[in-house]
Amino acid sequence: MENLTFTIFGGTGDLTFRKLLPAFYNLQAQKKLADDFSIVIIGRRAYDHDSYCEEVKDWVKKFARLPYRIDEYERFSKRIHYVQMDFTDLNNYEMLDAFYKAHHLKNHIFYFAVAPRFFAVIAKGLEKVENACLGKVIIEKPFGEDLASAKALNKDLEAFFTKNHIFHIDHYLGKEMVRNMQAIRFMNPIFQDVWNAKYIEHVQISALETVGVENRGGYYDQSGALKDMVQNHLFQILSLVAMEQPSTFFGEDMHQKQLDVLHALRSVEKLDIHDSVVLGQYFHYQNENQVKDDSMTETYAALRLFVDNERWKDVPFYIRTGKKLNRREMEIVITFKRTNPDVDANVLLIRIQPTEGVYFQFNIKKPGDSDEIITTSMDFCQSCSDFNRINTPEAYERLLQAAVQQDTSWFSKWDQIEYSWSYVEQLKERMKQEQLPLFTYMADSDGPKEADELLMRHHHKWNSIS
Ligand code: BG6
Repeated sequence: MENLTFTIFGGTGDLTFRKLLPAFYNLQAQKKLADDFSIVIIGRRAYDHDSYCEEVKDWVKKFARLPYRIDEYERFSKRIHYVQMDFTDLNNYEMLDAFYKAHHLKNHIFYFAVAPRFFAVIAKGLEKVENACLGKVIIEKPFGEDLASAKALNKDLEAFFTKNHIFHIDHYLGKEMVRNMQAIRFMNPIFQDVWNAKYIEHVQISALETVGVENRGGYYDQSGALKDMVQNHLFQILSLVAMEQPSTFFGEDMHQKQLDVLHALRSVEKLDIHDSVVLGQYFHYQNENQVKDDSMTETYAALRLFVDNERWKDVPFYIRTGKKLNRREMEIVITFKRTNPDVDANVLLIRIQPTEGVYFQFNIKKPGDSDEIITTSMDFCQSCSDFNRINTPEAYERLLQAAVQQDTSWFSKWDQIEYSWSYVEQLKERMKQEQLPLFTYMADSDGPKEADELLMRHHHKWNSIS
């Protein structure tokens, strides 16, 4: 669309400085922004255009993927308008409308880079901006604190924006290897035809982090690993791994197939909860800033789930995530069934971060006279190859580009969010009823040993391929 205006509420926040504007700078440097594309920054702080762009310059230098160039940055800064405004005051929106009109800015995309409690007031204020309701809105997670608050937020947004103009960011959907899942699965008959319970023994999805809660103790202590990572990122990935082939890889077709997976998750009441969930908290978490002294919030969660449909009958999906672990690693591991109990299983490992690649473990005859069967592997490291020197775009860069191109397949949809909230809430409720323990684990460790035991009881093991 021509003459797009991208307005960021929360334009002086961390997200805007670290992610959004460096991502836009990258798009600019690759000539991916139309000449008439404008960025309007709404912030409370007393900047004018020049002082704001001066501040942004340092962030771009530090965080943009592509090198800072004076001439490029000058062109970039010409797109930026800074509007000093308190967006919680509804009286200010007439001024915003006048500003847009004075600069002939229309065709709106709004980015709410603010806490969810402000969504309603901004949507209300935008009623005073001509044609704002025809625009799109992009919102960040956390989308609510629970199902009820997520529903309330959705209602506020849908009262103003058209349903399919509301884009929910899940930055994991912008990660290169997450996007690659569909190609790996559906463009290779060697995997496509064996992607089912007949051949697959179990699936693992891990998102391990070395960082703790850093300066987000207040938010995290209310949230915990289940709400912070499982409800959104891990369920998105699980649904991409387990979905049926969509007729196209775009928009609604993808969403529907992903949603079908969520609906097929074994219901919480049917889970043997003590054999399905392990929660942990790292030592000294309670000393973190803004965390309660007696906090029982989990900083680690491991789950054993099932997708109860024909394709995945009785195949365990192990998912785990945790903070303050001994490595940063996000990966999907598909372990195939053995055809012979004496040889190792075939394993397909999709590395999402910090390296990106695909590893495949298979069996061969030992070279030479011996007939012994040994295990070997093929290891494609995408982030090591020249090919990647082009530099994989960061998740936000892709997502902003998708938003500008109005490609909804890069965003999560309300019905997915609603279903996963309800699932996680039921899990939490059941865990409370059954008084599930919270195990402690040392910082810089693998996490609670009980998570290893969960798999061992079923003769499985977390991926040990490094
Ligand atoms: C965020 C979570 O959504 O994802 C954080 O709120 C987490 O707690 C982060 O650290 C992880 O993202 P990434 O891209 O570093 O894996």
